[in-house]
Amino acid sequence: MIILAPLQGYTDFIFRNVYGRHYPGIDIAVSPFISLVHGEKGIPRIAKDVLPANNRTMPVIPQILGNSPEHFIKMAEFLYNWGYRQLNWNLGCPVKNVTRKKRGSGLLPYPELVRKILEDIIPNIPQRLSVKIRLGLNNTEEIYKIIPVLNDFPLENIIIHSRIGKQMYEGDIHHDVLQNCLPLFKHEIIYNGNIFSLADYHAIKKKYPSIQKWMIGRGVFYNPLLPAIIKGKKLHTVEENNELFLPFLLDLYNELQIFINVDPVVYKVKDLWKLFSKRFSEPEKVFDKIAHTHTMKEITRITKEIIEEETINE
Ligand SMILES: Cc1cc2nc3c(=O)[nH]c(=O)nc-3n(C[C@H](O)[C@H](O)[C@H](O)COP(=O)(O)O)c2cc1C
Repeated sequence: MIILAPLQGYTDFIFRNVYGRHYPGIDIAVSPFISLVHGEKGIPRIAKDVLPANNRTMPVIPQILGNSPEHFIKMAEFLYNWGYRQLNWNLGCPVKNVTRKKRGSGLLPYPELVRKILEDIIPNIPQRLSVKIRLGLNNTEEIYKIIPVLNDFPLENIIIHSRIGKQMYEGDIHHDVLQNCLPLFKHEIIYNGNIFSLADYHAIKKKYPSIQKWMIGRGVFYNPLLPAIIKGKKLHTVEENNELFLPFLLDLYNELQIFINVDPVVYKVKDLWKLFSKRFSEPEKVFDKIAHTHTMKEITRITKEIIEEETINE
């Protein structure tokens, strides 16, 4: 099973819908986090990314970020009425503003607080709950104190991004630590982190024979065919790859223009290209071309030029 990772600002419903229409391979997505900081005010707006009418292409598990059981329970009730039967709790977000308020991976150094929150939430929400964690915030010792807490609750599964919060999204994956602590978990584990190619997938799968489910984030942008290739679709030629990529991008641009205002859409597309550019042998050059555009018309022209002229990574 392959799960699309939540990437705030990237894998929103517009991306999920268009991606799901053009590329097979993803079984389910976890939404980018829905924050509880606004309390109960305006939940429909805060949760609009998972509005059922906009989420018919790919099954989605809403992800919640926060540490208030009261607001979590309210959000869960609301999402239950929207049809969601599973939720994911974000214990991985590494952003300083989030972690210093004991949210996201900022909760990992406080196992007893995590216990208290789970005790308050789990009996009071109608959904099954999974969690997405890192190995710690400050060091990998923290995971060993969190595991016994998580083991005490009936969680659906645990998604592990095998870094610590301080690393943000870069630096080595701590395979040795994950391998060490894997047998200590009672729950099913979903692996996440640095699956960017078929070779990465095989190398990582070999390290974790017991894992059956994989979450992929940036790899989907670096090669949108990756989930399908992992599932056994034969490797495409460069031409076939490009034949799929251009219509996907044009469709994505159209949908973005329907849902986002004129100026922000240009910034949004530029942001997306920070990841899409890594698909090419010279990512900086490719990103530079997009970065110098001002309108969607220019972006469309440059996109076609890039796809015709630039070499993609195999
Ligand atoms: C720009 C960006 C935004 C992210 N937003 C979220 C998020 O909303 N919730 C979450 O749990 N993880 C988030 N992540 C982490 C990813 O879900 C994932 O754990 C991480 O990118 C490692 O997986 P990958 O190597 O397959 O990309 C984000 C990562 C990036 C790069």
